Amino acid sequence: MAEHESLEFGKADFVLLDNVSMEEFMANLKLRFEKGRIYTYIGEVVVSVNPYRAMNIYGRDVIEQYKGRELYERPPHLFAIADAAYKAMKRRNKDTCIVISGESGAGKTEASKYIMQYIAAITNPNQRAEVERVKNMLLKSNCVLEAFGNAKTNRNDNSSRFGKYMDINFDFKGDPIGGHINNYLLEKSRVIFQQEGERSFHSFYQLLRGAPDSLLRSLHIQKDPKAIYIHCNSHMNFSCINDGADFKAVADAMKVIGFTGDEIQTVYKILATILHLGNLTFGVDGDVTLIENTKLVSVLRELLSTKEENVEKALLYRTVATGRDVIEKQHTTQEANYGRDALAKAMYERLFCWIVSRINDVIEVRNYDAKIHGKNTVIGVLDIYGFEIFQNNSFEQFCINYCNEKLQQLFIQLVLKQEQEEYQREGIPWKHIDYFNNQIIVDLVEQQHKGIFAVLDEACMNVGKVTDEVFLQGLNTKLAKHAHYTSRKLSPTDKSLEFDRDFRIRHYAGDVVYSVVGFIDKNKDTLFQDFKRLLYNRPTSQLPCICYFWCPGEYTPVVEEHIVAVYHHYSRKHWLVYKSTLCCSVQEPYYVRCVKPNDVKSPLLFEHERCRHQVEYLGLLENVRVRRAGFANRQTYPRFLQRYKMISEFTWPNHDLPSDKEAVKRLLQGCGFDHDVAYGKTKVFIRTPRTLFSLEEQRAEMVKRIVLFLQKVWRGTIARMRYRRMRAALTILQAYRRYKVKSYIREVNRRFKNVRSMKDHGRHVKWPTPPKVLRRFEEALKSIHSRWWAWTLIKGLSPEETLQVRAKVASLEALKGQRADLGLQRAWEGNYLVSRRDSPDTAASFTLVSSDLQRKDKFMRVLFSCNVRKINHFHKSENRAVLITDRHLYKMDPLKQYKPMKSIPLYNVTGLSVSPGKDQLVVFHTKDSRDLVVCLQGMVPANESRIGELVGTLLSHFKSEKRKLQVNIASPIQCSMNGRKCTVIVEPKINQSQPDFTKSRSGYILAVPGN
Ligand SMILES: Nc1ncnc2c1ncn2[C@@H]1O[C@H](COP(=O)(O)OP(=O)(O)OP(=O)(O)O)[C@@H](O)[C@H]1O
Ligand SMILES: [Mg+2]
Repeated sequence: MAEHESLEFGKADFVLLDNVSMEEFMANLKLRFEKGRIYTYIGEVVVSVNPYRAMNIYGRDVIEQYKGRELYERPPHLFAIADAAYKAMKRRNKDTCIVISGESGAGKTEASKYIMQYIAAITNPNQRAEVERVKNMLLKSNCVLEAFGNAKTNRNDNSSRFGKYMDINFDFKGDPIGGHINNYLLEKSRVIFQQEGERSFHSFYQLLRGAPDSLLRSLHIQKDPKAIYIHCNSHMNFSCINDGADFKAVADAMKVIGFTGDEIQTVYKILATILHLGNLTFGVDGDVTLIENTKLVSVLRELLSTKEENVEKALLYRTVATGRDVIEKQHTTQEANYGRDALAKAMYERLFCWIVSRINDVIEVRNYDAKIHGKNTVIGVLDIYGFEIFQNNSFEQFCINYCNEKLQQLFIQLVLKQEQEEYQREGIPWKHIDYFNNQIIVDLVEQQHKGIFAVLDEACMNVGKVTDEVFLQGLNTKLAKHAHYTSRKLSPTDKSLEFDRDFRIRHYAGDVVYSVVGFIDKNKDTLFQDFKRLLYNRPTSQLPCICYFWCPGEYTPVVEEHIVAVYHHYSRKHWLVYKSTLCCSVQEPYYVRCVKPNDVKSPLLFEHERCRHQVEYLGLLENVRVRRAGFANRQTYPRFLQRYKMISEFTWPNHDLPSDKEAVKRLLQGCGFDHDVAYGKTKVFIRTPRTLFSLEEQRAEMVKRIVLFLQKVWRGTIARMRYRRMRAALTILQAYRRYKVKSYIREVNRRFKNVRSMKDHGRHVKWPTPPKVLRRFEEALKSIHSRWWAWTLIKGLSPEETLQVRAKVASLEALKGQRADLGLQRAWEGNYLVSRRDSPDTAASFTLVSSDLQRKDKFMRVLFSCNVRKINHFHKSENRAVLITDRHLYKMDPLKQYKPMKSIPLYNVTGLSVSPGKDQLVVFHTKDSRDLVVCLQGMVPANESRIGELVGTLLSHFKSEKRKLQVNIASPIQCSMNGRKCTVIVEPKINQSQPDFTKSRSGYILAVPGN
């Protein structure tokens, strides 16, 4: 069943019609035609309606869509049938053939070209040169064959006037390696006579319209000649035929195919000879027959490269054997005319056959050895001219229609035969179905002794004067009772039949009245031996092809000439039928049934009656019935499962039943279609299309879900893949991190392994660069190392040194970054007033005072002592000294041998304020808001800063006593003097030699030496 087409375009397969009736069939055919769907199936037969317009359905893209597909997978198309034939040929190594039938103008030749084009397009993927050559020749040969074998008729502007059977040979790989063209029964009478409105073969007009003037001159013809054979003037111009362009195309094609220049010239000479022959007229002078226009004789002589007298003789005399003697008998004018026409016809026919044989020479399979290359298989394409009924039907139509009759019979027989065989093969009971059998008509024509051919041949064989009327009488006698034959004598009331002239056959395609006029002559097909001799005896070098036209035996004068002729023609006529029968029965046939929608070549018109008639005589309805009588559809089990397995849970996604057949059974039982199917050995047969539709619908429904399911699974798969990748990346990352961490730690270990024994305990060791994650760890490590390092340093210190270190640490903590020069590098002596360096003269007296105070106040140790400059109550500055013990802060007068002036218990001291500068200002804040503002002085060396030491020592002491001491670094410094708030500002002054206090508005200024 064809897919991908919605029902708006009608049913893609006639088998799917709800009712098989002519009305429904026609309605579907019309609907599809109107919707631009020119192809429809009947099972595996393609019904094609001539669109009479260029359709955009034969391009490369469409070819791709059909390549390798099954018939029902794509909308109906010629390509599908071509592919099916090709596949059958390739898969089963079987010869196949495509039979294209239909009446004249229905599109057979076009179809055959598209089929060839498709086969050419899908083969030879490796672009082998030889295969390309063969393909090119096959395609090009069409153009030449059509020029010489086609003509404009009243039914078709490009009507094939010969039957064509083209074989394409394929190698084991399925590439075309050659071919062969059989041509049958060229309608040669057309050379000398055409019916009103028709033309002779295209080749004549092409020569006249397209040949250069020089060529025409050499052929002695004009562009618009008065050529009797071609009614030239009235039939030269057809808008749809471009003879001029075609001439060039054909000449090119001939060159490509391999015709030599001489050969092409000869072809033109023969065409010209025929045209000149037509103009030859005969007259009588007394009892002598003469040629009236003798000038033409010399033209003919020149064109045929023979002697003038030979031409004349052949045209006016004939050689007759009487007993032992051979005499030359003069023609009557009538005989001379007959002879001339016979010569023209024969020359053209033999020219055509020669062209075909030349093409065959080029395309025939070369160097093929079946032993090496495997079996060579064939696809045949049979394109005969279609059934035709003209105003005046003669012997040619009779033969053509007989051929069609025969083919039709073959078709219906084979379709049926194939069906029956298939049922038999599959073991399915088959009930016989009646179909229109045209054997009776075939018999009417071909039956031995009684048939029309037998009567005709008998008449021709008779010695003596036999006329066409005698032949008709013979028919009337022998066929009087035949239901399909009649004549005026048998039906005297039938005015449409002329007495002694017409007979009517009721063909399967309709009634046709034939005129017997010319039947005898045409069947005899007499060509006087003298002509054969004339042409055979000319020097071959000048006309390279003509010598092949007649085989040597043919012109021997002693043979009874008409027997040769009859035999010749008779065999030809039957050869076509024989060959087509043979090809269809031996090879696997595929059918294209062409329908012509109207007689006016309109792309829009669907003439109902006209089409119905064709459908009827093509037996299409019967074809549908035959197809449906059994089963509308059949598929092999695996294919069926592949297509429908999603419908059933037993088969989706895979079944576990013993065979595909069981699985299909289970599936169909599940759907409730068991009653409508039969199970063959390898195929399941579905009786009604409805079941198939239903299966298709269910499938379409499930496909949506499957798509979703697949999307789900696929998305899941993608996500899992991504997740796994991420996991892997993470593992790698972690391993790498671990490695980095470990190697860092190992490195640290390595570098610091011996720090204990190092002099500086690893202070100089360079830390390795840590990975990012270990930066904080590195800080911690460094700090651990520093602490350990500090601890190792500290643990060897004396108690005094320990105190000093503590004080330095405290100073650092309080002032680091806020004051420059904390004095950390030097040793902190603390009690500078006993230092001989600071106070060489007064140290001794101070030591006495200090000892006194110790005794009196019982302090344990001196924290700090130094000379200072101080503000007194009267805002004056004086030299003083401070001594800070672990219990008091003493203010002393250096001028009075350091007599203590005032003492502040240390617990009264709440804080210290220092400035951020280099000055030695320090303010002791007390609980009772009587802050002591001093500036350390008298240091040796003079620029030594002791503020850091003072702050650190006091802080460390307060800490050891677990008391708080507030340290401020500020400028100006806020303080209270006797309960009054004031500020102390440090100001550098240029001329200041020593720091000193002066009063300011808000408090005091410590003027320091500026620079
Ligand atoms: N598929 C098609 N697409 C377009 N035009 C087509 C197609 N088929 C046929 N035709 C038209 O119909 C004309 C007749 O077709 P074609 O020559 O194939 O008929 P035929 O059946 O071979 O007739 P005959 O028996 O007289 O040789 C073509 O010249 C072309 O104009
Ligand atoms: Mg044709």
